[in-house]
Amino acid sequence: MTDKDDFFEKIISVKLSADRESVDIIDQTLLPGTLRRINLHTKEELWDAIKKLKLRGAPAIGVGAAYGIAVLANKFTADNYDEFYGEFKKLKDYLASSRPTAVNLFWALDRMERRLKEVQGEPVSSIKEILFEEAQKIRDEDVAISRSIGEFGFGLLKELKKEGKEIGILTHCNAGTLATAKYGTATAPVYTALEHGWKGSDLHVYCDETRPLLQGARLTAFELHNAGVKTTLQCDNMASMLMKQGKIDIIFVGCDRVARNGDSANKIGTSGLAILAKHYGIPFYICAPSSTIDLNTASGDDIPIEMRDMEEITTEWYKERMAPEDIDVFNPAFDFAEHGLISGIITEKGIAREPFDRSFEELGV
Ligand code: MRU
Repeated sequence: MTDKDDFFEKIISVKLSADRESVDIIDQTLLPGTLRRINLHTKEELWDAIKKLKLRGAPAIGVGAAYGIAVLANKFTADNYDEFYGEFKKLKDYLASSRPTAVNLFWALDRMERRLKEVQGEPVSSIKEILFEEAQKIRDEDVAISRSIGEFGFGLLKELKKEGKEIGILTHCNAGTLATAKYGTATAPVYTALEHGWKGSDLHVYCDETRPLLQGARLTAFELHNAGVKTTLQCDNMASMLMKQGKIDIIFVGCDRVARNGDSANKIGTSGLAILAKHYGIPFYICAPSSTIDLNTASGDDIPIEMRDMEEITTEWYKERMAPEDIDVFNPAFDFAEHGLISGIITEKGIAREPFDRSFEELGV
């Protein structure tokens, strides 16, 4: 095992604990200074970890919710299916209320419920095992999905490669290993390039700091830098300068929910990047597992956007308050890039392009 493998092993964001009594996560709010794993034993601890972004990133939230519902259902005392299902349903609704935007949370919980319904009639003890198996499948599939997104994204990087020149990639927030089971989505093309023998210096990833919670600075820059990728950090409002200077060849961002028409919700600031990319003629790609595509949501306007506490902007990162006491604060956690601004949506099944609804159908989403 190389030092890099060891690093990626250490930053697995979410696991099932060995005794299957808890969900084992990295508390991402403490990174990059402290790499601490914590164990979530109760539904309240899991809910709070998702709400407070200790466990975050759309696919990682989905994996955590699947493990969580398996762990917690294993503790139910019900000995018949109907009672067990009733308790499961209440727990599912509770966990689903933690964050509204990333569809992977609901997708994973729905998939666990579907599996439970399929095995109605089996003894409760077997059902509990089946739920653990399903959660593990969701996790394992997530690794394969990210790797496949990585291959499609790597195909785009190969087209951009010119002898002796680095490829400038801009990304926003953290859609990296920490946000998934492994590889990330927006970072997957980069990690895949390294696996294909490219050097860290063949690429240059520019990480938006990502106000207000600094996922780009604290998480993406941390991951990529440790992986040996040439990495530069800039504040969000500096991205246009990089584009103007010709430093950015392609933009890869993650996604929390893709609507049927291709509108793609991601961390606040993504929409501005997409508009800038159009202005400067830079390809703008969304990287997302097909589970992030929500065909029941017609357009971005129908995606619920999470609003968060004002303290994230006024006090969280400062020794003293950095805004007047009674100031009104606007703090949406997400926005969406309109489909017309998106060059393509890279999924594990292929790259979807305009018109996206037809392209999703062709890819079998
Ligand atoms: O609020 P966060 O940190 O959960 O927001 C995360 C993002 O916006 C990511 O880009 C998205 O979840 C995709 S993660 C592969």
